[in-house]
Amino acid sequence: MSSPALSSLSARFAVRFGTDPALRVRAPGRVNLIGEHVDYVGGLVLPVAIDRAVHAVAAPNGAGLLRLVSEAPGVAAVEVPVDALGPRAGAEHWLNYVLGVLAQYRDRGWKVPGLDILFAGDLPLGAGLSSSAALETATALLLEGLSGRGLDPIGRARLCQQAEHGHAGVPCGLMDQLAVGAGRAGHALLIDCRDLRVTPVPLPPDWSIVVADTRVKHALADGEYRRRREDCEAAARALGVSTLRDASPELLATNAARLDERLVRRARHVVTEIARVPAFVAAAAAGDAGAAGELLRASHLSLRDDFEVSCPELDALAEAAWRAGAELGVIGARMTGGGFGGATITLVRRGQEAELARHLEVDFAGRFGHTPLVFVTRAAGAAEILPPDHPAK
Ligand code: GLA
Repeated sequence: MSSPALSSLSARFAVRFGTDPALRVRAPGRVNLIGEHVDYVGGLVLPVAIDRAVHAVAAPNGAGLLRLVSEAPGVAAVEVPVDALGPRAGAEHWLNYVLGVLAQYRDRGWKVPGLDILFAGDLPLGAGLSSSAALETATALLLEGLSGRGLDPIGRARLCQQAEHGHAGVPCGLMDQLAVGAGRAGHALLIDCRDLRVTPVPLPPDWSIVVADTRVKHALADGEYRRRREDCEAAARALGVSTLRDASPELLATNAARLDERLVRRARHVVTEIARVPAFVAAAAAGDAGAAGELLRASHLSLRDDFEVSCPELDALAEAAWRAGAELGVIGARMTGGGFGGATITLVRRGQEAELARHLEVDFAGRFGHTPLVFVTRAAGAAEILPPDHPAK
């Protein structure tokens, strides 16, 4: 979504629906610093909720209808009867993140009333920054706020994940929904996806996060995601462990010869990536930029070569950051999120963000003919319910 004047969201709602909103919510996007494609095997991940978010305002309409309006460019307003919450395809695919969540609450015995909802915000959509999880969580918080009761963050994250599995057809892990629902300003979240323990990790104050969105999303991304999960399950079966979280480098090395070569590479990514997460946390705690940068680079190369979820655009942005190096304050860079398009993150010394951003834009545009969306972001707090007239930020 472009950056509308968020502070007048209530006014725009009133113009649209002829009444004042009863509630406002904010649900942030996320970047993942390291621990990619390991949440669904119970691994360790290190996401950061960011200061770009989906905002939504809503009011009950007593009409038995969901009247949904999004300020995202090119998205048509829709009306859906509250008893018709089934999955949607084509241009209405985005509705799955809203209807799927409402259907999940309904299936748990909650009453879903007729609602008018206006969605807005400044989180780029479909850019690998968890706009889906943000939309799901925003919807969940609206219903909870209007119902006067609520789930705990883990229960809500699981419900949103089930909505994504059931309605959007994406067999995602839990990282995105948890990052959106448990973010903490100034911190990354170390999440152990086996027991869902969340440990906030302070980020060095002079490390800044620059996001570079390629603005591409390659076809088949969802199908490939499913195939990676299946490969991980097949590798775990072949290694005799219940998930790859339980596979050690030694176990993999001993059994490599009898495993399909592709499964060896998939498992090698997972096993090495999980090990990189605590190493990165230690590097951040020590302010060791050199070690952190090496880990980010190793993560990207592993995702590119062993897990095969990168693409030329992501590789180009990561390589441009690596090339810029210390001269432009670069600590490290890698793709973030599911891959096949989407965005990279570059950690850069505070004060050098603008120079680095310019370098990435020029380098990328020279090669692909369009400019990536590059912006500086900060670690922000979790999704929350706000008063309807709350100013934007
Ligand atoms: C997507 C999924 C997450 C996670 C990442 C890859 O964002 O929604 O659950 O698997 O890809 O780390």
